[in-house]
Amino acid sequence: MNKRYQPSVKLTENDVTDEDVYLQRRKVLKSLGFIGLGSLLPNSSQAFNLFGSKEETPTRTFVTQPLSFAKPEKYASQETQTPYEKVTSYNNFYEFGTSKEDPAKLAQEFKVEPWTLTIDGLVNKPITLSYDDLTQRFSLEERIYRLRCVEAWSMVIPWIGFPLSELIKQAAPLSSAKYVAFETLFDPKQMPGQASRFVGGGLDYPYVEGLTLAEAMHPLTLMSVGLYGKTLMPQNGAPIRLVVPWKYGFKNIKSIVRIRLTDKQPRSTWNELAPHEYGFYANVNPNVDHPRWSQKTERRITAGGLLSTKRIDTQLFNGYSEVASLYSNLDLRKFY
Ligand code: MTE
Repeated sequence: MNKRYQPSVKLTENDVTDEDVYLQRRKVLKSLGFIGLGSLLPNSSQAFNLFGSKEETPTRTFVTQPLSFAKPEKYASQETQTPYEKVTSYNNFYEFGTSKEDPAKLAQEFKVEPWTLTIDGLVNKPITLSYDDLTQRFSLEERIYRLRCVEAWSMVIPWIGFPLSELIKQAAPLSSAKYVAFETLFDPKQMPGQASRFVGGGLDYPYVEGLTLAEAMHPLTLMSVGLYGKTLMPQNGAPIRLVVPWKYGFKNIKSIVRIRLTDKQPRSTWNELAPHEYGFYANVNPNVDHPRWSQKTERRITAGGLLSTKRIDTQLFNGYSEVASLYSNLDLRKFY
């Protein structure tokens, strides 16, 4: 547990409250100055919020690029996809503020080029990837995955990326490597939440995450460089982020600059902040409730207002049962 910082904002189940309560809460927070920053920005235009009503959001100025990619049948899906508009306007990226709308508003000037991603630690061949390497060094493919946030909302997103295992193989891990540690860019000049505890919710930056080496090498684990056919918007973690579809969303660290192979369990931002609420493993599990809310069901965000969608049952490992063998010797209640 991080003793120095107490979070001023924690992940909450705010997405499952009634619309009136949500809007009331925003009004109160606004009057207290807690969600002032994003809403004070100029150049606003009308857009639909999750409830289907209109609210102010800024014009998108960040430019994405189309990507070339395969569409393997194995990762196709008949599930209704969450519209691009919602995937890119309802985000958790505390480096750009703690409300869901902040990242889309405050990240439009984020510079992704040049970028360097270093893979080092317990490897024979450390690698440094440039911005172009991220989309050109590996064959890209589309994978339609469910994303289940620990806050009990979920989306279905057509990610574009490559398996993390391919990157790790190129670095030639040493036999002593047991874990993989990830780190987000630290640049308080570009990320207002890193410059101010008030904006960034009191998290200890840079944001860090970790996986066991076996989890990192699993074929489902994806390094994503795009979604809906084009490169990522900054609010989704441009230029490269992790996607581990059987784990809660907070494991999916964004805007990664370093991947380090280690022999010790890596630090994890939310786990350090509140270990009794956010475990290192963070596997989606309807049988292990969050101390402050149930994890049995989730609200799937699709087209239409948030409250017009029905709650659906949450599935163990978010339905990706092929990963169960990774945890056959683990008590999932203890190692949540
Ligand atoms: N990565 C960084 N660096 N900072 C963050 O605040 N939030 C996490 C994760 N990755 C976060 C992050 C959480 S809580 C979730 S649910 C997902 O990103 C949300 O991803 P999305 O906004 O693309 O849906």
